[in-house]
Amino acid sequence: MPPIPAAPISDAVAALKAGRLVAIPTETVYGLAADACNPDAVRAVFALKGRPADHPLIVHIGGAERIDDWAVEVPQAARELAERFWPGPLTLILKKRADVPDAVTGGQDTVGLRCPDNALTLALLREFGGGLAAPSANRFGRISPTDAAHVHEEFGDATPLVLDGGPCQVGIESTIVDLSRSPARILRHGHISREQLLPFLPDLQSGVDSGSPRVSGNLEAHYAPRTPMRLADWVGIEAASGSGAGLLVLGALPAGGRGLALPDDPQAYAHGLYAALRALDAMDVSEIVVERPPQDAEWLAINDRLRRAVTGSGG
Ligand code: TXA
Ligand code: MG
Repeated sequence: MPPIPAAPISDAVAALKAGRLVAIPTETVYGLAADACNPDAVRAVFALKGRPADHPLIVHIGGAERIDDWAVEVPQAARELAERFWPGPLTLILKKRADVPDAVTGGQDTVGLRCPDNALTLALLREFGGGLAAPSANRFGRISPTDAAHVHEEFGDATPLVLDGGPCQVGIESTIVDLSRSPARILRHGHISREQLLPFLPDLQSGVDSGSPRVSGNLEAHYAPRTPMRLADWVGIEAASGSGAGLLVLGALPAGGRGLALPDDPQAYAHGLYAALRALDAMDVSEIVVERPPQDAEWLAINDRLRRAVTGSGG
């Protein structure tokens, strides 16, 4: 952890209290944060991102002791999960308190809560006192930022104050679990796996169903580069390697191939994935061809992001 400079945090607190936005580092991706109790500030998040107003935002809080400031009818399992995994990459969807602004929840009767594992942002939350409504700090549908520089790339001159916490450790968005109904359901896969959740939620379901709320991370097109992107096996990678394509492979590039390699390990791959997609998108390549990762459970969240990035790419 880098030393925590005092000035930026007090600047960020002042900006948030004045209704302005602040980009915050978390262990997953950078967030575009507003005071969750200030509907005008929250609306500014939607405007800057270009996100539909009915897609709810996650409220970031300083710890499990703050759950009851936002949620009602909190099941015991939610408290146990917060106790076990917070601060960390797990978002809990709970029944909301009546006073949580509709601007935050997209008019739904639930609220997403998460306590991020980043020293700078935890210090900010402590000093700010309230909750921070924050989606990923990217334009709607695009690749999430995992570095302060990516936030500047996304918003250019419109970039708000950025708290620079360096590169994000985990690199993909939090696991989202809906505990507002029974049985509980995973709405978005992430670093915290189904296996880690099962001891707390034996009847846990996964995948969206007809009763699931809107989750933009579950749109079929999301997390996407502008360059057309597709998945390929190793034979396809070799075939594409002389063709002007930008390759993203596991381990090492084939001879003569242009592009990037990521480690053949799901944690290290997730850490580097979005920066690699951004770098490939910035190269002058005709298409991005990604070597298909293994299909086992450990790679589930990564395969989910890659599939949606392919669908949204080229737009
Ligand atoms: O790791 C993360 O979760 C990052 C960092 C910044 O915390 N945040 C993030 O936010 O990925 P966003 O807005 O890009 O994705 C959050 C997802 C959205 O798909 C949203 O629809 C869903 O969470 N969500 C938020 N509140 C919800 C609710 N009450 N019910 C169902 N889904 C909800
Ligand atoms: Mg997002």
